[in-house]
Amino acid sequence: MKNKFVVKTPPMGWNSWNTFYDKISEELIISTADAMVENGLREAGYEYLIIDDCWSSKERDENGNLVADPEKFPNGMKSVIDYVHSKGLKFGIYSCCGVHTCAKHPGSFEHEFSDAKQFAEWGVDYLKYDNCFRPSSVPGEILYRRMSMALRSSGRDILFAACQWGRDEVHRWIRSTGAHTFRSTIDIQDSWRSVEQIANSQFEHMYSNAQGCFNDMDILIVGMHGGGFNPETSVGGCTDTEYQTHFVLWAMMNSPLIIGCDVRNMTEKTKEILTNKDVIAVNQDPDCRSCYKLDTYGSPDAFVLVKPLSDGDYAVGYFNFGDAPAHVELHFWDMGLSMQAGHGLDFYDCLKHEQLGVKSEYYSATVESHGCRLYRCRIKEI
Ligand code: GLA
Repeated sequence: MKNKFVVKTPPMGWNSWNTFYDKISEELIISTADAMVENGLREAGYEYLIIDDCWSSKERDENGNLVADPEKFPNGMKSVIDYVHSKGLKFGIYSCCGVHTCAKHPGSFEHEFSDAKQFAEWGVDYLKYDNCFRPSSVPGEILYRRMSMALRSSGRDILFAACQWGRDEVHRWIRSTGAHTFRSTIDIQDSWRSVEQIANSQFEHMYSNAQGCFNDMDILIVGMHGGGFNPETSVGGCTDTEYQTHFVLWAMMNSPLIIGCDVRNMTEKTKEILTNKDVIAVNQDPDCRSCYKLDTYGSPDAFVLVKPLSDGDYAVGYFNFGDAPAHVELHFWDMGLSMQAGHGLDFYDCLKHEQLGVKSEYYSATVESHGCRLYRCRIKEI
């Protein structure tokens, strides 16, 4: 297959791990695919349905092939994948560059080319490739290059989602392996502290996040509300304000938007957060420019992110990581707008879907604890 552009903007989809852990099955995948269509997620852009660890039997078959766990998938993997495709969605699967996956199912080490071929034959469109049980003598760079080449030789366009947890300065070399996304952090947990910790750890790496290979800040926890079967992820939950801020951060920082809650049972607020067209448009902007961070005048726990968009607008996010409300004030000269320029910014509120009018010199807002604002700003003469 000839070097096609497999992914132009950060991939969007759903992944089984955060909520379902090892409790995955044909029934779950089919009902999730149905729900993604019925509740408007597919329409909003979520196209990949990704099954994580624990889908396979603990042993390969006599020919060395991976086999779907017959209890979880009695009709095999291909029939589930065909069903997902019939709903207009793409299918993602999981493996690992080591000898075992993280949950001790067979990994793809030394089976890269045959596994890639098998995934292609089943109709897989996306491979999440983990980093557990890896021989310490073989550098990760070689192992990710190897699977990338195996996928490229498989005869099918398969998005290669490397999951190397940010180890070995992965942002420096992952793009050159051919991967389309790379996990840059440890596993997310369903808590505000986890969201804060992941975001803070990635501001300095935003330069390495661009078209062709996106920095994956891990599966979203929006809408989990402390539920699910995963004891590592499910640690209490967040408020809807915190989920909103998490979603806006991931969108502004060009992370893939991979939903992790049970999409068959979402609250109206969860659906509203996940399907907000104005926020998704910022994440999916075709230029894929990284954002920059500005300190704000007023609170040490608050900051502003600014992302230039392809139509000349700017996405501007106000964030408050503090435990009390913060006054956030953006002075436009910090974005490049000189006092003498004769221009102001026309503000549109992406969370309330309201025009706020043209502002000159600065704009301030009081942002609640762990809250955010997201504006789309257009330069206007004043
Ligand atoms: C690692 C990954 C997770 C998940 C699990 C599965 O911890 O980082 O995202 O895929 O493995 O075992």
